[in-house]
Amino acid sequence: MSKFKTHYICTECGYESPRWLGRCPDCESWNTLVEERLPDKKGPLRSRYVDPAFWGRDSDTPIPIGKVGLSEEMRRSTGIREFDRVLGGGLVDGSLVLVGGEPGIGKSTLILQAAYQVARTGATVLYVSGEESLSQIRMRAERINAIDDNLLVMSEPSLDPLREHISAAPPSLLVIDSIQTLYDPHISSAPGSVSQVREVTSQLLQMCKQRGIAAFIIGHVTKSGAIAGPRVLEHMVDTVVYFEGDRNHAYRVLRAVKNRFGSTNEVGIFEMGEHGLVGVDDASALFLSNDTQSVPGSAITASIEGNRPILVEMQALVIGSGFGTPRRTVTGVDYNRTAIILAVLEKRAGLCFENHDVYVSVAGGVRIPEPASDLAIALALASSFKNRPVIQGTVAIGEVGLAGELRAVSRPELRIAEASRMGFTRILVPTRNAERITSKPQPEIELVPVSSIEEALLVGVEG
Ligand code: TYD
Ligand code: MG
Repeated sequence: MSKFKTHYICTECGYESPRWLGRCPDCESWNTLVEERLPDKKGPLRSRYVDPAFWGRDSDTPIPIGKVGLSEEMRRSTGIREFDRVLGGGLVDGSLVLVGGEPGIGKSTLILQAAYQVARTGATVLYVSGEESLSQIRMRAERINAIDDNLLVMSEPSLDPLREHISAAPPSLLVIDSIQTLYDPHISSAPGSVSQVREVTSQLLQMCKQRGIAAFIIGHVTKSGAIAGPRVLEHMVDTVVYFEGDRNHAYRVLRAVKNRFGSTNEVGIFEMGEHGLVGVDDASALFLSNDTQSVPGSAITASIEGNRPILVEMQALVIGSGFGTPRRTVTGVDYNRTAIILAVLEKRAGLCFENHDVYVSVAGGVRIPEPASDLAIALALASSFKNRPVIQGTVAIGEVGLAGELRAVSRPELRIAEASRMGFTRILVPTRNAERITSKPQPEIELVPVSSIEEALLVGVEG
């Protein structure tokens, strides 16, 4: 028997179990439970995460809600418009922001850019990296032109020197890159384990809340179960943003999944360039390629990311397959939805995909989970199947139901306006939407109401 008491803990969601399980009963991930030593129980048990000290002294006696003082939240701009937007208008002093994402996606780059912009306004920023050496950080800073005297860097994985430094000279903004490399030497678990990342975050939380320091905490999302993911920290911090994208494409999407100081509807769109990340104002222009629109198998839809409409191109390739089960390869859209669309096309429109391989993707590598893109996927599939292009200048929006009916989508006006802005003149919309559109679109826009998938194929794909 081992000398220490241990338990098993899920690196995805933090679920604890006295014995090992193959699948976490809470978040249903496979193979994510790892053995960890139980924290030593010295002194009275207390919640490690909630310490009344940092919520202010007046919180121990109940008072009428109307008497609670209102404190104006101080927001700092990160100097990056897309980032400020996701944060809800800037970084709130004393708030902790968790920045999650896969390794190599650009988290360090984004946060270093923001750190520099804050430092430039005269505020002190402390960038702590447990991951890279000081010269590596310097090299990145040179590349993105982020050199400022107020931007202090420290390469130190242990929490003790950091704690001392923060008490001696508290910065306005603290950056931890990454939480999985920082460790508290008083805890026996390995850096990156669930107990370590939680304990370190809880201590950072106390340090920052007491002194009103804002903090960016970077957390890697990894596929291997050995390192605790940022999800186990989501409940402790004020704001959680995830940086997503395909590493082989330049574009990145920053999404808020939790925000105590703003909405979670906003997304930021960035492009990774030679000198760091640049916010993208005109996302539709980024994702549309002009040269494939007249080719069979391509259809444009207007999707909504956060609060913003984006035009994207759905691409499909349908070709005769050899022996065996035909292939279904889908990237960027939901696999199951595509399977449903194929089945509906087969049943309602008489297109038989039985002996065909089917490939579906979204141009530019974006991920479009929205069902409003169903109709464009259907048109792209039918277009490739028939080898006839979708009628030029057409944008298709609509969700496909199992009976082949087209269901209404949310915010049709916003989508139509974006399509018109990008020069499209013909828009297929579900009849349900068309009936209810109150604001008249521009005169050059032709709204084509469609109620079923058969109808949409007739008016959408060249005969
Ligand atoms: P990085 O910020 O180190 O990612 P993370 O912290 O999420 O692991 O950035 C990773 C990639 O970005 C790296 O492959 C190089 C690329 N990159 C650029 O293309 N342009 C740049 O200006 C910088 C700084 C990085
Ligand atoms: Mg990094």
